[in-house]
Amino acid sequence: MRPILILSVYNALTGEESKIIPFGCALEMIHTYSLIHDDLPIMDNSDLRRGKPTCHKVYGDDMALLAGDALISLAFEIISDPSNLKNFPPDKILNVVYDFGVYTGIKGLVGGQVMDIVTSGMDTIDKDTILYIEKKKTASLITLAVRTGAILGGSSEEEISAITNFGINLGISYQIIDDILDVVSTPEVLGKDTNQDKKNRKATFVSLYGMDVAKKMAEEYVQKAIDYLIPFKDKYSVLAEIAKFSLKRIK
Ligand code: IPE
Ligand code: MG
Ligand code: MG
Ligand code: MG
Repeated sequence: MRPILILSVYNALTGEESKIIPFGCALEMIHTYSLIHDDLPIMDNSDLRRGKPTCHKVYGDDMALLAGDALISLAFEIISDPSNLKNFPPDKILNVVYDFGVYTGIKGLVGGQVMDIVTSGMDTIDKDTILYIEKKKTASLITLAVRTGAILGGSSEEEISAITNFGINLGISYQIIDDILDVVSTPEVLGKDTNQDKKNRKATFVSLYGMDVAKKMAEEYVQKAIDYLIPFKDKYSVLAEIAKFSLKRIK
């Protein structure tokens, strides 16, 4: 999903994709690291991922921790590789390296995961806190994906800002859908353990508002995301299609 978003934005701007593939790979490495660490016994303690036993189940907690660490380093190695200079201006690459730091770190993914852990087991959590968690832990990488495509594709500041808002809203919807599927789907379909949120006493939009409202909110956030693309007519129609497609998982 995240590499496809990078490629789609870049393709909408330039008509090609090959140059940006390393950036898509790097983002998927960050995503994979976040899942390896998320599944560890000290976090969600999940045994199944992508239809297979989780990394720590196969290689042990120590190797899973290190595999995640190595994926972060490798991602930064790839995006800052001097060979990218033959395809992109240095200031744009620097901008993307900075974004990778911001959106994956304290102000992004890690910040969201911290709040997710800190609030586990709490009986009452307000809507703003849940929104913060969903936005930071999941919308961050989706926003980073579309921003990377836009920055390296040469978008204007105004366009990057609209694309950022698209990413934030799609990302929030994406995590609400993940929370819904955790309750209603099966490991056979998802390739990962279900009922993890209840097991770990996580607050989600589903636990706060119930299934029907959560589904409605997922749809509303997708619509909000798509609305940010209106000024660009059908330039980013692929993004709108991806956003609509994401809802099919809960239909
Ligand atoms: C984790 O959210 C998001 C990350 C930053 C890894 P979840 O804990 O709900 O993700 P799943 O359900 O295990 O995939
Ligand atoms: Mg988690
Ligand atoms: Mg998890
Ligand atoms: Mg989940």
